[in-house]
Amino acid sequence: MKERIATAIATPNIAFVKYWGNRDERLILPAGGSISMTLDRTFTTTTTVWFSDSLSADEIWLNGKKVGPQEAKRIVEHLDLMRRAGQCRLRAKVVSRNNFPTAAGLASSASGFAALTLACAKALGVRRSMTELSALARRGSGSACRSLFGGFVEWVRGERKDGSDSIAQQIAPASHWPGLVDIVAIASEGRKHISSRDAMRRTVETSRLFKQRMQMHPGMLKQVRNAIMQKNAELLFDSIMRESNSMHAVMKDSRPPIIYMSEVSRRIVDAVRAFNADAGGMKCGYTFDAGPNAHVITTRKNEAAVRRMLARVKGVKRVVSAGVGKGPAYAAKHLFKI
Ligand code: PMV
Repeated sequence: MKERIATAIATPNIAFVKYWGNRDERLILPAGGSISMTLDRTFTTTTTVWFSDSLSADEIWLNGKKVGPQEAKRIVEHLDLMRRAGQCRLRAKVVSRNNFPTAAGLASSASGFAALTLACAKALGVRRSMTELSALARRGSGSACRSLFGGFVEWVRGERKDGSDSIAQQIAPASHWPGLVDIVAIASEGRKHISSRDAMRRTVETSRLFKQRMQMHPGMLKQVRNAIMQKNAELLFDSIMRESNSMHAVMKDSRPPIIYMSEVSRRIVDAVRAFNADAGGMKCGYTFDAGPNAHVITTRKNEAAVRRMLARVKGVKRVVSAGVGKGPAYAAKHLFKI
């Protein structure tokens, strides 16, 4: 029998228009669409999955350690989803490795569930399009569906109750705007205090501002889509800062408030503003996910100057640049021998 083993490599994505809140929590159907840029292989998750009748339970390893029960539960649920898609009942061994800090607002769940979905699909012979696989990846972690494609990606909200039209699709390939760069200013490598899934539920249930955010959301999606298609850097940088501020505002409006940005994050916001004011135009723009680390988007032309500016901010530990990525891939070499 052919061995059911496969390895996939995926990279994170940085959302320009954020996913924050579900219209259906079980199916992970978002309250609004989102748009992201997939990053290159500066940050990668590599995952090997092996399904075998010699295993009596699922076994999950992340960065050399067996994962704890909470994390294991989420991954086993995803394995179950993939087993159903592949009509297979075999247990699995999963070994996954990140080359960047886990759960620190660097979207490790996006690259993680993208790699897991693809490795399972290949190992189990699930023959579906990337768009169909994106609907499976979404169930592991919403933002993971966007990491199934390279370049610039939109996850559409969809209208149907069953979620079949809530899929990710590429709006432009990496080659469309190769000069764009995400400079990650790392303020903390610690884990986040509240998971994005729990936090966004709290926002949907308790924030009054959230409804207003959702009313403005289609306009923001259109603006960012246009900025990307026209390669209008000034419009893009201005839009992503407003959009990030809007998401963090509804987080703060939740009860009790959710605060992911730190003092260092706030200093970065000021430094970016001062940098643009000195330059006399929008040369870069920040965006923050569910963590204190900043993603400062700029063009290769201004990369060195923006890196210098960020490295000078008190509390910034490291500055790492990632370009636009081509999306996930399979690897012939597995992370363990069977
Ligand atoms: O995919 P999740 O459940 O980890 O949520 C991601 C949420 C944000 O990163 C804050 C926004 C986004 O669209 O990536």
